[in-house]
Amino acid sequence: MENKIYSRIVSTGRKLPKNCVTNTQLAERLAKEGIETSDEWIRTRTGIESRYFASGDETTTSLGAEAARQALTRGSYDPKDVDLIIVATTTPDGVFPSVACRIQAVLGCTNAGAFDIQAVCSGFVYGLSIADGLIRAGQLNTILVVGSETFSGLLDWSDRGTCVLFGDGAGAVLLTRAQQPGILDWELKADGTKGESILAVTGHIRNGKVYGDPYIRMDGKGVFKAAIESMTSSAKSVLSKAGVSPKDLSLFIPHQANLRIMKVVAEKLGVSPDVMMVSVDSHGNTSAASVPLALDKAVEDGRIKRGDLVLLQGVGGGFTWGSVLLKY
Ligand code: UT7
Repeated sequence: MENKIYSRIVSTGRKLPKNCVTNTQLAERLAKEGIETSDEWIRTRTGIESRYFASGDETTTSLGAEAARQALTRGSYDPKDVDLIIVATTTPDGVFPSVACRIQAVLGCTNAGAFDIQAVCSGFVYGLSIADGLIRAGQLNTILVVGSETFSGLLDWSDRGTCVLFGDGAGAVLLTRAQQPGILDWELKADGTKGESILAVTGHIRNGKVYGDPYIRMDGKGVFKAAIESMTSSAKSVLSKAGVSPKDLSLFIPHQANLRIMKVVAEKLGVSPDVMMVSVDSHGNTSAASVPLALDKAVEDGRIKRGDLVLLQGVGGGFTWGSVLLKY
């Protein structure tokens, strides 16, 4: 019989900054600058109750390294066993070296290659799919996939339509070669024509200066609609390729941006609300970190058992989106 190669998640980890800010605390802070918002508005429009902001020596690298270290420890793997580190981030600590190289140094993964990928809120799903492809091709055995962000640094505190939505954090998985799946299927998509018009930070550094706008600008309603359409079609496509019914899912982990978006997608797919993982309430939209944060929380809460069917979904800037279907 043919000996197939698969990839499988061995363990997960997460790290949130120390500073947790509730909606009420944020509203009080913004009120001092003349910006009006409320716990009630944020909670009912987004499902968010609090978020974490990096401070002091907390960086995209330090958060990502701690999440990755936890995944390695829980999987009983040595840093030297890691072949590759992929970090999904849109908020690197510098233009280069990459966050992945910085994490490689912090953890002492001396046998690993390392690179970052930038697919904004879809970044983790992109990274996991790339890692699965490299393991299935027989090239590598052990890959750390990290989503780490300090999005607070991109927020315009005078724009209440965005600054209440995002937070900082990191999540990680350790993916290894296996004889049984593991990751069953995935799909990655993008529509660059929507790129700058609905969600973007257009600013960039050149010749020692920042050109363009260094803050997140978003057409909230445009993103809302595009997110629902793309997540629904991507989920249907991956599930049908794998011959899996939405009713067979043990857990659905959509990108944690807005509870209203997540509920509409679940309803359109026919996935019961009980099967949907929700962690956006406690950490807001953490971009590439949102899916691995939610996954790690689900594992910790005992909501996923080995062998369960789980659907992960990312969607965001680019415009990008994607789904990964796996057997945990
Ligand atoms: O990772 C992917 C990235 N982003 C997303 O997934 C976000 C997608 N979009 C959304 O989640 C929603 O569109 C938002 C949460 C951003 C906005 O919700 P909405 O229901 O689309 O509200 P809206 O933009 O239509 O605004 C409704 C009202 C407006 O006031 P008027 O014009 O009706 O008087 C806004 O000015 O709410 C006002 N508003 C606020 N009020 C209090 C907007 N932001 C706030 C706020 N606090 N923070």
